[in-house]
Amino acid sequence: MYAVVVAHQEVQPANSKQVYLILARLGVYLFRERSLLGILPTCSDKKYGPIYAWEVFGTYHVWVESDKIARDLLVHRGKKYGGRHEIPAAVGVKDGSEFVPLMNIGDNFWRHKNFIHALNRQANADNIFFGYPELENKNTLRRLLDHPDKWSEHIITHCSRVAGRIAWGDPRHGTKLLHVVPVLLKAVSPGGPIINLLTPLMYLPDSISPWKKAEAKRAQQMKDAFYEAQEDVIKRYEEGTAEGSWTKLWLDKAQGLEKSHLNKHEAAHAVGSNALVAIVTIGSPVFPEADEWRPERWLDPSWPTYKEPLSEFPTVRGDPGFGYGVRACPGIDLVATELYTTIGSIAWGFNIKRKEGKAGYENPVPWYQTNPYVITMASQFPADVTPRSAEKARIIRQLTEDPSLTVRAVGEKSEGQFGRWDVFRPEEGSGRTFDWEGLTALAPDHDKGPRRYPVGV
Ligand code: HEM
Repeated sequence: MYAVVVAHQEVQPANSKQVYLILARLGVYLFRERSLLGILPTCSDKKYGPIYAWEVFGTYHVWVESDKIARDLLVHRGKKYGGRHEIPAAVGVKDGSEFVPLMNIGDNFWRHKNFIHALNRQANADNIFFGYPELENKNTLRRLLDHPDKWSEHIITHCSRVAGRIAWGDPRHGTKLLHVVPVLLKAVSPGGPIINLLTPLMYLPDSISPWKKAEAKRAQQMKDAFYEAQEDVIKRYEEGTAEGSWTKLWLDKAQGLEKSHLNKHEAAHAVGSNALVAIVTIGSPVFPEADEWRPERWLDPSWPTYKEPLSEFPTVRGDPGFGYGVRACPGIDLVATELYTTIGSIAWGFNIKRKEGKAGYENPVPWYQTNPYVITMASQFPADVTPRSAEKARIIRQLTEDPSLTVRAVGEKSEGQFGRWDVFRPEEGSGRTFDWEGLTALAPDHDKGPRRYPVGV
């Protein structure tokens, strides 16, 4: 079922009748679970077609099962339906200036949105994100060559280094994102803290609420990360040594950025939140056989998805996976750059194969297995990553700028201000790999032999 919740409105004063509301939330939870199983709603509820409303114990949900209706609502009435509601584990984020994707519609949001779009517009054919994706692609190939068993770690650190460089001109700032992302992602997910499902818990007094304490800590950590990185750029800017970055563009008062009048605090968070949202997801609900590997959908004119010129298509631009209308993703140019160049270079340099024989039986590929948070990431699995030829291995070695590993071994420490933000992998020999606080953890039962999937998967 393809369903989007477009409205989620309390019709009951939230601080009254708490027991009733706990039951209500349990009801909503069960409702969601059952909906996912396709049991609810029944045909009689769909009297207006693929859009229907449900009031479940005082909470009003509107579900949309049609891509066209979702587009109409989010493109033509985006100001009305593009808002954000309160997140119980992160109360206040919707009204603050902390994280653009979660800001509710209003004057503050428009200023931030214009700023972020102006930042992303600075990249063009002559300046592809300051050349950082290209540089980091070479480094990532080298890490894959030197430490193929850590391929999952390399993909994550690739993203953090590229984002750290683009936002603050120094890949070392990327480790700040590695700290901030898992905490934020969990805080804003239904699969995160229980308070996001049992929402009356948000009315516990501050002094006894563990979630409010955790939220205050999370907000402080994010502020420290973004302020520290911004201060570092300001210092280098004043010395005349700052590399190109989004923060430098802000200091330069580059075209389009000034109009938003973001102060220092706001700019630190706007740059930081844009850097933070650099995570890849896949899939699209509107293609035929969307879950199947069908490269011919882009190469064979008989497919409805085929489009010419092939020098331009296929493209991720316009893909429903990036949202529609006022809230649509402003990061699509960086996504396109990374998807084509990073995956292209990896495919140029390496053969990637699932394990074979007994090891293959014991380590099946965990198709469709992801983490349970609002930005999903595929589970890692053991695979063989080998260079396609000795010549390619030689070229990779020759082109590397920095072969060092960003994630540290236990006991290592970075220099100066970066030490606080070090990220560590489990002990070598422990049998465990770096899994980014569980975001890219091995699938449950990953070593229990072949997996069973429902019919049709
Ligand atoms: C494959 C990777 C990505 C996908 C699938 C993706 C998808 C999305 C989606 C679905 C939204 C929300 C749309 C809505 O609420 O209606 C969004 C928002 C956003 N994305 Fe992306 N995104 C990706 C990568 C990026 C990158 C690399 C950046 C930064 C350069 C970025 C920056 C943002 C920002 C700032 C927002 C919030 C926009 C707003 O609230 O108005 N995204 N993205």
